[in-house]
Amino acid sequence: MTAPSTEQALKAALQASHAWWDDMGVDIPVVPVAPPSAAKKARKTGKIPGTKSTPAPQEIDTSEQLIKAAEQAKAAPTLEALKTIIEGFDAGVLSDHARNVVFARGNPDADIMVIGEAPGRAEDEAAKPFVGRAGQLLDKMFAAINLSEENLYITNVCNWRPPGNRHPTEDELAMCAPFITRHIELIAPKLIIIVGGISLLALTGKTGIMKTRGNWQELDINGETVPAMPLYRPAFLLRRPELKKDAWRDLLAIKARLDG
Ligand code: URA
Repeated sequence: MTAPSTEQALKAALQASHAWWDDMGVDIPVVPVAPPSAAKKARKTGKIPGTKSTPAPQEIDTSEQLIKAAEQAKAAPTLEALKTIIEGFDAGVLSDHARNVVFARGNPDADIMVIGEAPGRAEDEAAKPFVGRAGQLLDKMFAAINLSEENLYITNVCNWRPPGNRHPTEDELAMCAPFITRHIELIAPKLIIIVGGISLLALTGKTGIMKTRGNWQELDINGETVPAMPLYRPAFLLRRPELKKDAWRDLLAIKARLDG
């Protein structure tokens, strides 16, 4: 085997660090090499050509869009119809800046629905939730209790990657709420796994994943009470591996409930 060239080694190191930054929720601006005239202009204006500044979160009236989202989501008779509605929906900066709508992966007939926060860069590119480094950790965590895409249905409370990898705002979460509500109704899961503090807030109105994780919640879905277990987001566990033992405890609680 030949040793990688310095350039290849640097490229691999850069890719690995980009993946890590992405999992941590940090956006990496693409800064092209500017021609000298542009560089001169940039020094004058303070703006780097070819880069987009992260747009302000509120460019549309999300309350008006919320009404539209509620009307349209309620009218979706099937998952396919819901996906098509979301794909055609104007979610302001969210839909303007995302490459793809990230709808779901897994088995639509599954009894267990996993609901994360919002897509990251890898998910936006693949149009599938939890496919980046954090998603791979999540898959491993589930595999440890014999769960996989065969018996899980995986989605997010927000179907678009927020620009710059920021968190969705509370107004944006409210605008997305009719979609995830209808999504849950159509899947009709027997158990929900809430991944991360943003989804905890969106689904239960509660803040504080640190104190809520590991404690069963009850979600009212169409008059039915569905048990829901909040877990840490896997990107957080990548950063704080000492907390994996808590996540393991939470996974065992899910397994006990499924076995019991
Ligand atoms: N984190 C999430 O909450 N959802 C994804 O799809 C990816 C990372």
